[in-house]
Amino acid sequence: MTTFELEAIGGPLARRLARRREEETFAWEELDPLSRHASAETARLAWTRSAFSEYASAAAFAEITAGLLAVGAPIDLTAAAADFVVDEVLHAELSARIAMGLGGAVPLEVDLARLVRPPSSRAPLLSVAEQVVRTSCVGESLTVSVLLEAKAASIGVVGEVIGRIVRDEAEHAELGWTFLDWAAERLSASDREHLARAAEQAIASFAPLFSAECAAPSALGLLSCDVFDPAFKLALSRRVLGPLASRGIVVAL
Ligand SMILES: [Fe+2]
Ligand SMILES: [Fe+2]
Repeated sequence: MTTFELEAIGGPLARRLARRREEETFAWEELDPLSRHASAETARLAWTRSAFSEYASAAAFAEITAGLLAVGAPIDLTAAAADFVVDEVLHAELSARIAMGLGGAVPLEVDLARLVRPPSSRAPLLSVAEQVVRTSCVGESLTVSVLLEAKAASIGVVGEVIGRIVRDEAEHAELGWTFLDWAAERLSASDREHLARAAEQAIASFAPLFSAECAAPSALGLLSCDVFDPAFKLALSRRVLGPLASRGIVVAL
């Protein structure tokens, strides 16, 4: 275990990452008065956890990229997955900046050697399909809904940053459905059953992660539980279970 930290070398490499911000400049100074908000401490923890979960998403898309290359997936699909690694690194940075602006990140002990759960299948196509279902179809689809609610409830720069992140997450979710449609003819009935079990496990592991973020109503990117619970249920059925079932992946919850 190690304490989670983000470090940048600077120079040309940092400029390359900065270009991905598309010259967007956020009014980070707005966070200063918010650091005295009653929910600031809870928000610092939530945004520190969020930075780590974005970092873990970068690792997931790196593995998906390698998996797509190994099965000869269409190059535009593979390139998108590779590009998403950079999106997620940028999201980690943005989340960390909010935590810093609210008074500083909270020390978080993490295991960087276990960022991504290994797929249970060893067959190349099914193993990448499992990772895509878990990461894009379940994780990213649920993230989009939760972030849209959080954006609506947030003020100023916090809402702007969430808006910037959610724009990318919608594309990250879409990659999952595009992949499944491309792979449709190559997946057998038993592969689909395998993917349904993978989706079920992913839902079970994501649900408590998301609900841990719900707290007293706040404008700092946190969601009150009375908003979170119905939004999560609706997102699960409309954005995850429905689209999976329409592709023959039926999850029994
Ligand atoms: Fe992200
Ligand atoms: Fe994402």
